[in-house]
Amino acid sequence: MNLLKEIKEKAKVDNQRIVLPESTEERTIKAADQILAERIAQIILLGSPEEIMKEAKKFNLKHIDQATIVYPQKHDKIDHYISMMVELRKHKGMTSDEASKLIRDPLYLGTLMIKNGDADGEVAGAMNATGDVLRPAFQYVKTFPGITVVSGAFIMILKDKEFGNEGLIIFADCAVHPDPTESELAEIAVATAKTTKAIAGFEPRIAMLSFSTKGSAKHELVDKVVNATQIARKMAPELKIEGELQADAAIIESIGQKKASGSEIAGNANVLIFPSLDAGNIAYKLVQRLAHAEAIGPILQGMAAPINDLSRGCSVSDIVNMIAITANQAAGK
Ligand code: ACO
Repeated sequence: MNLLKEIKEKAKVDNQRIVLPESTEERTIKAADQILAERIAQIILLGSPEEIMKEAKKFNLKHIDQATIVYPQKHDKIDHYISMMVELRKHKGMTSDEASKLIRDPLYLGTLMIKNGDADGEVAGAMNATGDVLRPAFQYVKTFPGITVVSGAFIMILKDKEFGNEGLIIFADCAVHPDPTESELAEIAVATAKTTKAIAGFEPRIAMLSFSTKGSAKHELVDKVVNATQIARKMAPELKIEGELQADAAIIESIGQKKASGSEIAGNANVLIFPSLDAGNIAYKLVQRLAHAEAIGPILQGMAAPINDLSRGCSVSDIVNMIAITANQAAGK
């Protein structure tokens, strides 16, 4: 079975509640219909029931009536969510008036539903920018205990099966945090190990990437990766992690053994942690295009509950896949 099929099959077991705030967006409602037809997850749509059913009819969707539709204007928990917003953000000056306005935005409503235990995860971003999807999540759902920074991983499915885990390599952070400190970089490695096990289903062998291998260059940017590796080892002593490594020393056995001899991971890594968002984002896009790899993600990690952001150019099947991944994250939470 291929990885995406496995992810969908696993999601069916727990049947998590995934909220879709962009409910009348064409690709989103079509994806919701497919998820319901295949019984991958329960779906919560935010919006007017009339409008949602009108769209469902327009696209001849047969399963939308199985979704829970939450009409924000008539939702009996709105006042409770407003009080939660004020309570959780009073240190930032949040007032009832401001919260009453914000909660009308489905991206805030979805997040508050998760915070209150009324949904298990969220997928959005087919029509909203990354920052608009992430901000409410950062502010109300917040990070997992022990983690202070959210990051984004990609499962790269390579044509060449000799690399990584039979052609699967996890890249992070490729999507969220522009310039992590050394301890944030360590957290990104620990969070990516969790994603690797929970979603890709294999044991991580992590390379902390740099332009230097084991002291071949001296620079403060190299020190940052060396220190991050040590911090990650302290955070999770069971992790198989090596740094600092250049990309070739991380993934090509003969080079790894030459540049970092005796390392269990050099030349054999299946998780690559990039030192900055510049490096991670550029690398995943180059591998996707030049090596014709499939890039599944970004899978947001480090959040207390799973909220995933879509690219605005996404397809219906991208959304279906991301809902299934989110359901897996929610089940493993
Ligand atoms: N993890 C956890 N919390 C965070 C993070 C993070 N990575 N970043 C910001 N926050 C929190 C802040 O602490 C702050 O919390 P507070 O209000 O309680 O103090 C809140 O979120 C807002 O922080 P800002 O610094 O104001 O963040 P802003 O909303 O301006 O930006 C954003 C956050 C949008 C994620 C920004 O970091 C960003 O633009 N990142 C790059 C995203 C991107 O463009 N990626 C590439 C494209 S995606 C792709 O190609 C797949």
